[in-house]
Amino acid sequence: MPRPLLSDRLAAQHAERVRASLVRRLRTVDAVDGAYVWIGGRRLLNFASNDYLGLAQHPALREALAVAAARWGVGATAAHLLGGHREEHAALEAVLARWTGRERALLFSDGWMANLGIVSALLDRDDVCVQDKLNHASLLDAARLAGCELKRYPHADCDGAARQLDARPDAAALLASDGVFSMDGDVAPLRELASLCAGQRATLMIDDAHGIGVLGDEGAGSVAEAGLAQDDVPILMATLGKALGVAGAFVAGSAALIDGLVQSARPFIYTTAMPPALAAAARAAVDIARFEGWRRDRLARLIAHFRSGASTAGLELMASRTPIQPVVIGESAAALAASAELEVAGFYVPAIRPPTVPDGKARLRVTLSALHAESDVERLLAALETALA
Ligand SMILES: Cc1ncc(COP(=O)(O)O)c(C=O)c1O
Repeated sequence: MPRPLLSDRLAAQHAERVRASLVRRLRTVDAVDGAYVWIGGRRLLNFASNDYLGLAQHPALREALAVAAARWGVGATAAHLLGGHREEHAALEAVLARWTGRERALLFSDGWMANLGIVSALLDRDDVCVQDKLNHASLLDAARLAGCELKRYPHADCDGAARQLDARPDAAALLASDGVFSMDGDVAPLRELASLCAGQRATLMIDDAHGIGVLGDEGAGSVAEAGLAQDDVPILMATLGKALGVAGAFVAGSAALIDGLVQSARPFIYTTAMPPALAAAARAAVDIARFEGWRRDRLARLIAHFRSGASTAGLELMASRTPIQPVVIGESAAALAASAELEVAGFYVPAIRPPTVPDGKARLRVTLSALHAESDVERLLAALETALA
């Protein structure tokens, strides 16, 4: 047998994706204008962004970014441990720790790297990482790359999680779950997971990428909303690129955890620190997210409006109370067709297909933002009714 050619393999994979309606298409946004995006010369009402609080274009964030760039320049020029860690990073970490009620926080360049850094710093080959089946790809891949045993349990099933822990009673264990599931929008059974972990000497890690800013008092996230403190959820990770409208991520927890990660989280150690101006913008975003509660109130009204309108229209939704309100279509080709029809009608709602979601569960991942008006939601509902008729 001759050596297989990687180019042949790519071509075969592409042909299979075409057959299954799974080709991903990279599209360029030409301009952003409030809740609208311009794509291909058309102005589309955007229902796909994670800018839940409407902060990504906020004047205070732009100003903080510009002022910090004037002071610090653009790049951090080095890794955190080698001169890249600037006052802006330290100030943001202090604010994030205070917000989430943890002793310390540590910044990462993005959520993917944070998850990889945390899991691979903590777990070895002999350890077990127990995860919800619908966790974000970065958590699942982090466990695979850490080389530990990855054991998944059915979505939100605490008994299933307990069985997986029971199967490895002698192994050091990390139980990791999304706080708000990125493609379904539901909230994990956080209190049950915390008591399971406490009883099993397992460490609980929650990825609150989609809960921070959105849920809980002052938007402190799903873990705060559930009333869980640092001892209950020793590892809290969240991102700065969704409700906070910037980029980057952090982990918050005990001083001992953060010190340990500084010593051994490779995606923290061996990478250039995030630009200080981004840290300054994120700090401005946290201030707004905490203290402008009207943004969360408005989101709650939009979510209720969308759900009651969908129910009147006979549109089936998932059990979500967050800004992520997916409409499951089923087959990938049908989801693509619905998304295309919505686009013709002036809406940007891309189809989410396997492997991002399970086979047969392709969907329109509708996300709501404080930038939307109730009339926007009504127009979307009318267009969905037509597209799915
Ligand atoms: C639950 C979850 N965790 C982690 C990430 C990765 O974060 P980032 O975009 O900062 O890499 C995402 C999405 O991107 C996510 O949805």
